[in-house]
Amino acid sequence: MIKIGIVGTGSITGKHAQAIAEIEGAELVALYNPNPESAAKAQSKFGLPVFTDINEFLNFPGLDVVCICTPSGLHLEPALAAAKAGKHLLIEKPIEINLSRTDQLIQCCEENGVKLAVIFQNRFSDDYQKLKKAVDAGVFGRLLMGNAYVNWFRDSAYYTTSNWKGTLKVDGGGALINQGIHTIDLLLDLMGDVKSVFGQVQTTMYPIEGEDLAAALVNFKNGALGNITSATAIYPGYPERIEVFGTTGSAILEAGKLTQWNIIGSTETAKAVENAGGSGASDPTAIGHQMHQEQWRLFLAAINGDLKPVVDGKTARKSVELIRAIYHSSHSGKLVEFPFADK
Ligand SMILES: NC(=O)c1ccc[n+]([C@@H]2O[C@H](COP(=O)([O-])OP(=O)(O)OC[C@H]3O[C@@H](n4cnc5c(N)ncnc54)[C@H](O)[C@@H]3O)[C@@H](O)[C@H]2O)c1
Repeated sequence: MIKIGIVGTGSITGKHAQAIAEIEGAELVALYNPNPESAAKAQSKFGLPVFTDINEFLNFPGLDVVCICTPSGLHLEPALAAAKAGKHLLIEKPIEINLSRTDQLIQCCEENGVKLAVIFQNRFSDDYQKLKKAVDAGVFGRLLMGNAYVNWFRDSAYYTTSNWKGTLKVDGGGALINQGIHTIDLLLDLMGDVKSVFGQVQTTMYPIEGEDLAAALVNFKNGALGNITSATAIYPGYPERIEVFGTTGSAILEAGKLTQWNIIGSTETAKAVENAGGSGASDPTAIGHQMHQEQWRLFLAAINGDLKPVVDGKTARKSVELIRAIYHSSHSGKLVEFPFADK
């Protein structure tokens, strides 16, 4: 039985608790929240011990894995404490909000010999997996263009009721680093590494520090071009969409479902499946817990089999690098070449 503890007791924690509850051989045993009032609330919600002292939490008998569900720019400190205590780490996206904090986290896990993976649950829909296999097998020929569009909507209450969303210090920005990153992770997984990017971000609708509107033009190392848009200002919010265009065919995935599948010389068309996980296009709570569960299963298998986890730290670093480079490009007005060294 692998014993799991969760740091942070906010909105995403419930999805993890639900996912873990249905996995044989794994058990959620404890949580941690330094705020006594939040800890008390969580204790009655989850019916489990919720510690306000991180050392007591990490010393829970037999604790093997820690899942980090704190605000994005507060992943590092509890992750370092857990890694130093020898706990494997499954961290919510983004791994952290800049490259320096990300690198400290990856290095600490390496030094302490613990496994590290980052939640990007959209990788596990059946149709995404089919698209990824086809791209890797060369079904679309040479890739010409890969686009990621995350034209989402959040109402003003989404920002006013949170003390960290849209802040530079704790969210690291806005629509790109919080919402768009899921689809940017998929785009990078499909298209490979980036050569350069030109981006522009704006804050148009809400009094937040981060962006609610962003656009970028990407040059991939394989020669393909790419467009990215990411927003929380586009009413009513449209399903996120990935387009892959190659020399022998193309495909479009919307909210985890293939809506277009066109290969030269083939009569196969898109047949969307149900196992797609839902979209947070208009409502952040509209996602299911099944895709989180799939990533938990794979992470636990990686621990049991001493394998490299899916979406390890270095992989999760790539989406942060691209987003930080888009911010840098927007501020400098210049094309940013990769690798990007974050200041
Ligand atoms: N994978 C997804 O689809 C998805 C969806 C939502 C959120 N997230 C990610 O999950 C993380 C949390 O988001 P959320 O929406 O649950 O936020 P939230 O504000 O609802 O919850 C954050 C929780 O962390 C606690 N907390 C704050 N500082 C802490 C600290 N220093 N130590 C321990 N606990 C602390 C808060 O009290 C709260 O319980 C973010 O990184 C976010 O990007 C991922």
